[in-house]
Amino acid sequence: MNRIFSGIQPTGNLHLGNYLGAVRNWVRLQNDFECLFCVVDLHAITVWQDPAVLKTHTREVAAAVLAAGVDPKKNILFVQSQNPDHAQLAWIFNCVARMGWLNRMTQFKEKAGKNRENVSVGLFAYPNLMSADILVYKATHVPVGEDQKQHLELARDTAQKFNSDYGREVFPLPEPVIMGAATRIMSLRDGTKKMSKSDESDYSRINMTDDADAIALKLRKAKTDPLPLPDSLDGLAGRPEAANLLDVWAALSDGTRQAALDRFAGRTFSEFKKELTELAVSVLGPIGSEMQRYLADPTELDGILKAGATAARALSAPVLAEVEEVVGFLRA
Ligand code: TRP
Repeated sequence: MNRIFSGIQPTGNLHLGNYLGAVRNWVRLQNDFECLFCVVDLHAITVWQDPAVLKTHTREVAAAVLAAGVDPKKNILFVQSQNPDHAQLAWIFNCVARMGWLNRMTQFKEKAGKNRENVSVGLFAYPNLMSADILVYKATHVPVGEDQKQHLELARDTAQKFNSDYGREVFPLPEPVIMGAATRIMSLRDGTKKMSKSDESDYSRINMTDDADAIALKLRKAKTDPLPLPDSLDGLAGRPEAANLLDVWAALSDGTRQAALDRFAGRTFSEFKKELTELAVSVLGPIGSEMQRYLADPTELDGILKAGATAARALSAPVLAEVEEVVGFLRA
């Protein structure tokens, strides 16, 4: 039986890059797998989070996932801290995974930098919590981007060491699900910089909450160059803004950069932008307004998340009971 677990951090300013790189993949996975989708607030607090902002961002991300089309009746969507079983298993994994393994994690090295002595213990132990997220449900498949591959390897190593230390095949070794090369969406103001939630110019990104007018305005102002669109991929050399807008078209229409070129070769940016705006508004407009609806009165959203946490715990509780028995804890 295949079961997917995936986590997303509660960050603000969710934008087109987040939609195309993560949220949209979840919408697709729900048709082929049993899925648990989790907003990982325990992971978020490994670095400082303002409490009120954390709450807002947790709801925003959950609303984005629902608005994009994840069906909470077919999948389990929940907030990590609402199922305490993750943290309980993470502690056990803190005692299974080795210091040397975690010391090799490149994300930790990057995030800690020269500040190693002053980052939280949680930032170091973060991969063990991620292993617990996955394995507390005995999930078999995990969609991961490039940046999380090493953490998934660690989860497999931890599962394997647990099984061999205790001489019991408790955990499956979770497999990565390759989602196809995610398009790197670049800033609308500078085609060489990644679209980012922290860019101070809001014109650099299309936010998932932007309405049709905002999307149209941002695309109209998006940086271009004076030439018409080229007729071959080679013609995009040195034209990062043209390449990026074609990629946005390609991603939103589920096609390739080549297909976008075939359609727009020789046309002016103003013609291209008109069609791109129509496409972007048709895909993102409804998502933005649905997000706004969830966030305007979060009662419904909070109810969906609470039901999700209950369903998640119903799956994790027997796994945790099995683990605690295997480890030798006296069960209440
Ligand atoms: N660490 C992941 C990220 O930063 C989020 C995450 C937490 C996750 N737990 C997970 C992803 C389990 C996949 C599976 O993006």
